[in-house]
Amino acid sequence: MKFFIDTANLNQIKEAQDLGILDGVTTNPSLMAKEGIKGDENIKKHYQTICEIVDGDVSAEVIATDFDGMIKEGETLAALHPQITIKVPVTKEGIKAIKYFSDKGFKTNCTLVFSIGQALLAAKAGATYVSPFIGRLDDISTDGVELIKHIVDMYNYYGFETQVLAASIRHTQHIIQCAEVGADVVTAPLSAITGLLNHPLTDLGLEKFLADYKKLNG
Ligand code: G3P
Repeated sequence: MKFFIDTANLNQIKEAQDLGILDGVTTNPSLMAKEGIKGDENIKKHYQTICEIVDGDVSAEVIATDFDGMIKEGETLAALHPQITIKVPVTKEGIKAIKYFSDKGFKTNCTLVFSIGQALLAAKAGATYVSPFIGRLDDISTDGVELIKHIVDMYNYYGFETQVLAASIRHTQHIIQCAEVGADVVTAPLSAITGLLNHPLTDLGLEKFLADYKKLNG
């Protein structure tokens, strides 16, 4: 399972990269705004900086909502760095754009996916990744992890190559649940990733090992 970090914060991206387990980064316009990155040139520069920090794919989302605008913007983003994956919403125009990009050999991430039907269209269009938003489904009392399972099963049944990228991960347990149902990728905040480390028995065990060492070795 690949681990992406879901942020545009450079310090957090560096911290996750330093852990040695990072496979990529996802961003969206809200995450860029959260870091105060504004203006097209600054946004492009920020994507390039992220690509220089990490080794894997970096999702950069288009703002345009029409086909021609998405193509123009997506090609500009992809030209910034070979690691850029063009992130496109699952609208009618978006699906057409994903098909165009996939035919041209660009990597794509089909975003804002909330149903198995949307995931089916994303795969048919040749998306590299499909991003179902599990936290936002949970927010409206719908089981987000169950959607991941259904999409994984459906893709396996038909042999689609689109990778299921579980997004809108809110906490550590979401990562574990996504691993259990076979998500190809999770994109999560740093706190949810580092939360996987935590266990009180690890802390207690380490404390005892160090105390026993000290008893004899000072
Ligand atoms: O990857 C999509 C993600 O950033 C959305 O997360 O927490 O805003 O639902 P959230």
